[in-house]
Amino acid sequence: MSKNGKQLSCPVPFEGLRVAKRKARKVRESAAASEPEEFLVDRSHGIRLYRGDALQLLRRTKSDFVDMIFADPPYFLSNDGITCQAGKMVSVNKGAWDKAETFEEVHAFNLEWLAECRRILKPDGTIWVSGTMHNTFSVGFAMQTLGYKILNDIAWFKVNPPPNLSCRYFTHATETVIWARKSPRSRHYFNYEAMKEMPDPKPGKQMLSLWSIAPPTASEKRYSKHPTQKPEKLLERIVIASTRPGDLVLDPFIGSGTTAVACARLKRRCIGFEIDGAYLEIARRRLADEVAPAQPRLAVESGA
Ligand SMILES: C[S@@+](CC[C@H](N)C(=O)[O-])C[C@H]1O[C@@H](n2cnc3c(N)ncnc32)[C@H](O)[C@@H]1O
Repeated sequence: MSKNGKQLSCPVPFEGLRVAKRKARKVRESAAASEPEEFLVDRSHGIRLYRGDALQLLRRTKSDFVDMIFADPPYFLSNDGITCQAGKMVSVNKGAWDKAETFEEVHAFNLEWLAECRRILKPDGTIWVSGTMHNTFSVGFAMQTLGYKILNDIAWFKVNPPPNLSCRYFTHATETVIWARKSPRSRHYFNYEAMKEMPDPKPGKQMLSLWSIAPPTASEKRYSKHPTQKPEKLLERIVIASTRPGDLVLDPFIGSGTTAVACARLKRRCIGFEIDGAYLEIARRRLADEVAPAQPRLAVESGA
């Protein structure tokens, strides 16, 4: 029963912690064992998606190659706890890929993929990494250790967040998006004027590092749910802020393809990696809608 007397149901069966951890390790091991493959190539829009383990794919990517990286990595928050979704109590677990045994394991993982990303970034390129308290301190420390220069820590206010069911903590309402450049000496691109024309706080004022952006809409999730899908508005803002048309963007954990959708919309090229083929199918369908040629209107519709 919740505080306001509403009945909460629990549709998700909880797995034993040990079983879930064993499963997580198996998923990572089998992904690393299987050969990465090309999943989607759209030459006319400069979009390429690959299925496979991000670490393997990053290691195969050329140095000094991409203008910008957006990464929404595993946050490792799947600890068999509970959260609230649409008034229902559900498991907080996102998937086997979001589980880790120890903090050391999380930090070693972050150091590894962030080192590859730094090698792949062009000298003046920038990287954005989203996170919560579960991974963001490790990501920030790893970035500083590797020689990145942190430019901003954006507080993304997730308008209308779900309530905290335990009533023992503040309601989690933000994610952090760290923005960094390849090195202290490099010269990064920042589309200051375009940012000034957007809200946060309002057009005509310098944009704050506090962004109020609602979670993905139902239409963004029309091809089924990804448990941690990012809003298109968040990616559009990131792409406009830090790239020019025609630039190449890389997302090593692209999930349902939000970064590729934003890039296609804004005429940037995009490479995405993802371990799970089912998520790539969602990305494929979202991209097809985004790049579909506009249908000519019938005379009867236009009144001509
Ligand atoms: C936080 S989600 C990204 C969601 C994405 N931003 C979106 O809007 O849909 C992280 C994604 O990384 C994938 N993933 C986890 N570990 C991976 C790995 N080692 N290699 C490639 N993808 C991985 C997961 O399957 C998941 O879809």
